[in-house]
Amino acid sequence: MMFTLITGASMGIGEAFSREFARRGHNLVLVARSGDRLQVLAEELRQVSGVEVKVCVEDLSHAESPGRVYEFCRRHSAGVDFLVNCAGLSRAGDFDDIPLGKLEEIIMVNMTAMARITRLFLPDMVARREGSIINVASLGALQGVPGLGLYSATKAFVLTLSEALYEELKGKGVKVVAVCPGFINTGFFERAGHNAANLRLPISETGVVVKAAMKGLRNNKVRVFPTLIDTALVFSQRLASRKIVIRLAGFIAAVREN
Ligand SMILES: NC(=O)c1ccc[n+]([C@@H]2O[C@H](COP(=O)([O-])OP(=O)(O)OC[C@H]3O[C@@H](n4cnc5c(N)ncnc54)[C@H](OP(=O)(O)O)[C@@H]3O)[C@@H](O)[C@H]2O)c1
Repeated sequence: MMFTLITGASMGIGEAFSREFARRGHNLVLVARSGDRLQVLAEELRQVSGVEVKVCVEDLSHAESPGRVYEFCRRHSAGVDFLVNCAGLSRAGDFDDIPLGKLEEIIMVNMTAMARITRLFLPDMVARREGSIINVASLGALQGVPGLGLYSATKAFVLTLSEALYEELKGKGVKVVAVCPGFINTGFFERAGHNAANLRLPISETGVVVKAAMKGLRNNKVRVFPTLIDTALVFSQRLASRKIVIRLAGFIAAVREN
């Protein structure tokens, strides 16, 4: 039986993806640390959508956890034809202030786990000549963001890898899209110690990310920007010097004004 695997499914954007895929009749493997939240969501989705939902509780900051996620799916005979790499975290503040443990955690979850999970599940998709991957990057991926340097660098990794994969997988039956949201209304900012009240862009709801990613996959896009403002900002980068782009990103994120 085929499943859609979603990391970071316990809340925020990943939860929104889970609801949308369940609504579309996909069986789900939900991955995150918050087992209780995942169980409640899984039960609701089983009841409402009649799909099969498996809960895989893992801390993706551990190097072995992507392998355990893969083994979990094998053990449950859950083939994965849709993969959503959504788990992620940030930490507001200048780079020289980030505790080393937090630095490792951000790198492990945002980059290492994302790359390992993709690497583990991709060969099966290629062998079946069928698969879709949604990678949740960020507008921050497009330039270094002062006050979010590490986070923006990890999202650049997600975007760059997605772009290369997009081309490598042409003709192999597997699609990849990177979705690059601006600011989305989740607990993400609070968890990162980033005062969302200071942000200088409107905050959108999670649905815009899901919608943009699904449309992007359908239209075979390599990267998508969920709102008009996101798209306008990306376009404006063509007109400004790199120094201005970086300063503007810092101004909009307003992390250093906390
Ligand atoms: N919100 C925004 O404005 C925004 C903008 C651009 C991009 N994004 C990206 O969108 C993705 C989702 O963000 P969100 O806004 O939905 O944030 P969120 O509400 O904080 O959700 C983050 C998700 O990642 C999971 N996660 C974090 N650390 C984990 C770990 N060590 N192991 C396993 N799972 C872990 C969390 O689950 P547990 O805590 O249960 O483990 C949660 O499900 C992230 O990749 C983020 O970088 C967000």
